[in-house]
Amino acid sequence: MKSRFFCQECGHQSFRWLGRCPGCGAWNTLVEEVEHGPARNVRNQAAPVKVQSLSEIMMQEASSLPTGIAELDRVLGGGVAPASLVLLSGDPGIGKSTLLLQVAEKVSGAGRRVLYASGEESLQQIKSRASRLKIDSSALELYLVFETEIGRLEQSIAECAPFMVIIDSIQTVFDSALGSAPGSVAQVRECTAQLMRLAKAKGVSIFIVGHVTKEGLVAGPRLLEHIVDTVLYLEGERHQSFRLLRAYKNRFGSTNEVGVFEMTESGLVEIKNPSALFLGQHFSSSLPGSVVVPTLEGTRPLLVEIQALVAQTAFGTPRRMTAGVDYNRVILITAVLEKRSGCCLGNFDAYVNAAGGVRVVEPAADLGIALALVSSLRDVPIDPALVVAGEIGLTGEIRPVAGAGKRVKEAAQLGFLRCLLPAANLTQVHEPGMEMIGVHTLQEALAKVF
Ligand code: TYD
Ligand code: MG
Repeated sequence: MKSRFFCQECGHQSFRWLGRCPGCGAWNTLVEEVEHGPARNVRNQAAPVKVQSLSEIMMQEASSLPTGIAELDRVLGGGVAPASLVLLSGDPGIGKSTLLLQVAEKVSGAGRRVLYASGEESLQQIKSRASRLKIDSSALELYLVFETEIGRLEQSIAECAPFMVIIDSIQTVFDSALGSAPGSVAQVRECTAQLMRLAKAKGVSIFIVGHVTKEGLVAGPRLLEHIVDTVLYLEGERHQSFRLLRAYKNRFGSTNEVGVFEMTESGLVEIKNPSALFLGQHFSSSLPGSVVVPTLEGTRPLLVEIQALVAQTAFGTPRRMTAGVDYNRVILITAVLEKRSGCCLGNFDAYVNAAGGVRVVEPAADLGIALALVSSLRDVPIDPALVVAGEIGLTGEIRPVAGAGKRVKEAAQLGFLRCLLPAANLTQVHEPGMEMIGVHTLQEALAKVF
């Protein structure tokens, strides 16, 4: 098989790599692709194409196999779907191989054969990880292979006939028909496309590991998102032990779910009650600049402590810094605070932080961020038994939030006594023992709290 280079912008063909496409003049757009030759031209020889009506097509039972790891099953949308291709990506060292080895244990323990193909670690290394994870391999249908050439990989999959295949990682897999190095755009894309065909043709579930490269784009998971069925991201801070598993795309379930794990001495452990983790030391002290916000991750509520520090600026222009909350959102909130409630932040640096290293992207955290800022500015602590939810509009109005009932319920379960929320949400929430405070504007909220 020969290979050619195609421009990704205009489709121009070339026999060798060029920095600039002669067709459209774009830079760095030529990517190598395998030329499959006339064999691809099956139009005339193959059986006639059959068109089917929607009602003719038999519904197949969505027989996803639950892995028994509930946090993962929820994110996957029930479990491992047959004949699916799942991409698990994340920074190197975050725990992708660990998670997949644990999945392999569960699936093979349920009597389904699993093939773990590694191109990064030797079989010895995987064995020692397995013993660290206390996997008792004697009763498992778990097979390992060290192979990176895609054709030979396909052979071993055909021989082993597994239910599930794990490819660790896609960056090490290569097709010998292509001249470019493993991990390059051309290799990663071609090999993933071949694995997709294999998954559909043979009915195996394939999980591939993809490292997020430094650029995030080149030869990384973003390149593969449209090819695969499901894209999962395993995230977390290196110096912190918890990990969040999110679905960015899922043909078998919702993309809003998040799974929470903790990396321990013996692998990833599910965290059933993550709110307790992200609340930090909240109850033990009530200091200025701290407020608890009930966020919603998919269908699951999560209580997060927002901390703000407002301090006299030492420079001409005040600094704004955030960790775990959206920077631009904080800028917007400070602007609304200045304009609508007369809080003068122009001479102050402001730092906003979501405790525990979690990331809060919802606008429902706006009101909490605003109150944390004002609390720190005025040096007045906020009632530690209060939770705050609400989106702030540019005119200073407090907009309703989705899923208010769930948020309040979670807060009540963790012992909070009062909830400040948009007035429009008041009718949706019935939580005995919880005092509801509805507000229409930012000013009203400030008056009620301070
Ligand atoms: P790994 O799964 O190899 O990461 P990835 O495949 O995403 O590159 O995990 C690597 C880290 O996890 C490593 O720093 C050690 C740590 N770890 C534990 O803390 N406990 C364990 O039981 C295992 C297996 C790994
Ligand atoms: Mg790994």
